[in-house]
Amino acid sequence: MLHKKLKAFPDDFLWGASTSAYQVEGANLEDGKGPSVQDVKKVPEGTSDLTVCADHYHRYKEDIALMAEMGFKVYRFSISWSRILPKGIGEVNPKGIEFYNNVINECLKYDIIPLVTMFHFDLPQALEEKGGWFNRDSIEWFTYFAKVMFENFGDRVKYWLTINEQNMLILTGDTIGTTTLTGPEKYKNLYQQNHHMLVAQAKAMALCHEMVDGGKIGPAPNISLGYPASCKPEDILAAQNLNAIRNWLYLDMAVYGKYNNLAWAFMEERDATPIIEDGDMEILANGHPDFIGFNYYSTATVAWCGEDAQDTYGHDQQKTKMEKGVYVGAANHNLPHTDFGWEIDPQGFRATIREMYSRYRLPMIVTENGIGAYDKLTEDGKVHDPYRIEYLRKHIEQIQLAITDGAEMMGYCPWSAIDLISTHEGMVKRYGFIYVDRDEYDLKTLDRYRKDSFYWYKKVIASNGADLSD
Ligand code: BG6
Repeated sequence: MLHKKLKAFPDDFLWGASTSAYQVEGANLEDGKGPSVQDVKKVPEGTSDLTVCADHYHRYKEDIALMAEMGFKVYRFSISWSRILPKGIGEVNPKGIEFYNNVINECLKYDIIPLVTMFHFDLPQALEEKGGWFNRDSIEWFTYFAKVMFENFGDRVKYWLTINEQNMLILTGDTIGTTTLTGPEKYKNLYQQNHHMLVAQAKAMALCHEMVDGGKIGPAPNISLGYPASCKPEDILAAQNLNAIRNWLYLDMAVYGKYNNLAWAFMEERDATPIIEDGDMEILANGHPDFIGFNYYSTATVAWCGEDAQDTYGHDQQKTKMEKGVYVGAANHNLPHTDFGWEIDPQGFRATIREMYSRYRLPMIVTENGIGAYDKLTEDGKVHDPYRIEYLRKHIEQIQLAITDGAEMMGYCPWSAIDLISTHEGMVKRYGFIYVDRDEYDLKTLDRYRKDSFYWYKKVIASNGADLSD
């Protein structure tokens, strides 16, 4: 739809950016923190481990001061479960509480709203050894962790996100380093894990409303609208399959407490329907999100998948793995790519927002969006990243169009506030507004530098999205 006049961003629109604990903090076994699954996973060859990352654990004050300089209204970060509870349950680590108190207080000092992700890919290893999310006790483990967080931080943290990209944990856990499952039992196991996470999420949402005065909470899946590779009717069906399995399963559950029928049919087909215990559906129906947080990087395109289809798309995180008889990933030749091969689709962002809003009618905040690139620090301490400015500008434009279409948008937190370690491509793949002076192995000075996109985003925020010019 072409609009004659665009609606402005709301006055209280939350501009900010995101990080996650295991990717940015470092100090991964310091001050009593227990190991998480990320600390013990096999690091892909040629990429750094997680001992230092961006050293945010020791430099959070400097980092938050830079975020304040950009004018952030909100900072989305995650709390490391095993920093708070080294064994995942039981004894609380006072140093962990102290660290997040410091981060939260530092944000509040600058009037930056803390938006806390409760779980971002880093299950305590001690719990993984007890079976991880496949163990039904994981529902109680997560609820206990939620209670500890609400008790300690709920007086100051009013915005919470439950589980980062639960859908990616299930669909591409092998890339993220959270599952090594293979074979026919894989599906059964994964969708049982998924069920436990969904129940745990619903309990955490209800608990937040009970314990946090004025608390608001929502899920944070990765939502990419699925396109059909052509207008062949069977490709349309394939795209519907993908959307149900990749997107709506997670949001229908978070918002309505119901399993999406198509996703359920897929689980039946794979002999993977989860065991649902008495009371689960009631818990699911009683957990209500106040908003939807979602990560968006690109759309996904799929075609009908017959028995002889070939999986040409490999296993990159943003690319869609083949599901025989359900869909097969297809390249979208209308879209350009990042240097890391991810498709770039700003208009698909608008389409995704439209679709989500018409399905769920809840306010939405973008909790990730951004471009991974090989940034270079020049000798005079600059980082020229016009590609990042262009990527973000085009996506922000689409948010404004979506607002004009009638969607309710609360905020925008691109990935990432500062350079950090990518999920599986190390430090060389940078996303931040703030450059961190280190390489994959050489820690150099770890000094911070403002990229060109830093100054640009500062202007965007100061104008409340009205000035997107260079
Ligand atoms: C999201 C994750 O999937 O994408 C982040 O929530 C991740 O943790 C981001 O870093 C970008 O992915 P990658 O693989 O380039 O780090």
